Amino acid sequence: LETSASTDENFIQCLALHSGNDSISKLIYTSSNSSYSSILKSSIRNTRFSTPSTPKPQVIVTPLLVSQIQETLNCSQKHGLQVRVRSGGHDYEGLSYASPVPFVILDLINFRNISVDVENNFAWVQSGATLGELYYWIANKSRTLGFPAGVCPTIGVGGHFSGGGYGTLLRKYGLAADNVIDAHLIDVKGRFLDRKSMGEDLFWAIRGGGGASFGVIVEWKIQLVPVPSNVTVFTVNKNLEQNATKILHRWQYVADKFDTDLFIRVILSAVSSSQKGNRTVQASFNSLYLGGKDKLLPLMQKSFPELGLVSEDCTEMSWIQSILYFAGFPSGLSPDILLNRDPSITYFKAKSDYVKNPIPEVGLEGIWQRLLEKEAAAALLILSPYGGRMNEISESSIPFPHRAGNIYKIQHLVYWTEEGTAASEKYMSWIRRLYDYMAPYVSKSPREAYINYRDLDIGTNNISNTSYSQASIWGTKYFKNNFERLVQVKTVVDPANFFRNEQSIPPVSY
Ligand code: FDA
Repeated sequence: LETSASTDENFIQCLALHSGNDSISKLIYTSSNSSYSSILKSSIRNTRFSTPSTPKPQVIVTPLLVSQIQETLNCSQKHGLQVRVRSGGHDYEGLSYASPVPFVILDLINFRNISVDVENNFAWVQSGATLGELYYWIANKSRTLGFPAGVCPTIGVGGHFSGGGYGTLLRKYGLAADNVIDAHLIDVKGRFLDRKSMGEDLFWAIRGGGGASFGVIVEWKIQLVPVPSNVTVFTVNKNLEQNATKILHRWQYVADKFDTDLFIRVILSAVSSSQKGNRTVQASFNSLYLGGKDKLLPLMQKSFPELGLVSEDCTEMSWIQSILYFAGFPSGLSPDILLNRDPSITYFKAKSDYVKNPIPEVGLEGIWQRLLEKEAAAALLILSPYGGRMNEISESSIPFPHRAGNIYKIQHLVYWTEEGTAASEKYMSWIRRLYDYMAPYVSKSPREAYINYRDLDIGTNNISNTSYSQASIWGTKYFKNNFERLVQVKTVVDPANFFRNEQSIPPVSY
């Protein structure tokens, strides 16, 4: 039997032996290496999984070459180590860098080339690139091309695309995964596959089914989409004294039906009220319009006059400046800021819900009560409208099933800074209570959830003995009927279940 220390050594020797020279040694970090801790923390976003009790990897490998990824997979299998693939490290439950069993982090930080072809409107982007880097290089080549992916620039392409990925262009162009046209993947046997050689089933699975169950996706070919040279953004805040309840109630009837050039999300939070010492709830209507304000203002007057949008609320800018705007950067900053990969880190817990029928005002009032509790001082509900392109794509086109019939998606989020388990329990229990409260107002049977807002509360695998029936509990929430096809794909491509985690797709025999 190998001891843990000898496993690490044997694994490292295996890597050195198979890579044919010692260049790989500079790309391997164990706890005895002085950079181990900074490499480990480099992309961690959630402090909940960066505490002394968080299980740490035996080894971190940061490959430069495809062959080094292949050898990492080979040697991990030989020496009984699990592999966690990390691209941007933004997993909500830390699954890309923490595991209860001995494991290796395969960190794709060095796989971040981006090549943009503006003549043919596509790009190849490696998984370790961030969305910010991708947006930067697209805009660097063209003011009228963009890509429909997430809002936070430090998210990694690898996790994001393989889980779906959406942002302000969702109503016009769908998800990031809807716009992937080819990919390069290394499978459990170390084979380097493209769309043609992996086949349509596996190519289907990695666009929304979560990459971690199927292999290591090295890079993606994406279809770029047209954006106007000037877009318009606005943020209009309404609190309870300013009729927020009625305006939000109305938003639910129109937000998914607007012209597809218009995306208005709503961020709900508790804020100080103008009456001293009091708190109120604020609904922040935060919008991107693919056009100028000359068109936006009459459109709003027709479709959503209740918001009272006026010209002074609106700012025209390039698409790349709108990326900075939504990321919360001050206006006028250079897009160079998008090349900064350092994530801000905090404790947080999130959950997701889909809304198919407008929530009545009395239901919204119950949300206000919970947002005004003291545990919710740094809590947010982010309501993102669907409709448009999302209604046109079938539920089984890719594994992401949440299409026609959804008015909007809610992300429930709570942040905190106090250390320790008592604090964690306090905030986690607040968000769980909110989630229980929401049950009558959101999707049922299954209560749908978004895999990129990973939530282990909705069910987990038993990590050493993954069962199909256990996995189907959380699997049908993320994927509805697509869960079955994901299991079939997994059974073919990784029958021994090497690529596994707390929410990985099981092969059928398990
Ligand atoms: P990370 O590296 O942690 O990977 C996530 C999962 O994918 C892990 O299971 C990992 O093993 C696996 N994986 C990663 N790379 C892989 C690869 N190359 N091959 C195979 N498996 C791989 N989402 C959204 O749709 N829209 C949004 O606007 C936002 N906004 C947002 C803001 C913030 C602050 C956070 C923290 C997160 C979001 N998200 C989001 C959620 C985000 O899309 C989700 O967390 C992604 O999975 C993150 O991808 P990373 O590569 O960063 O994660």
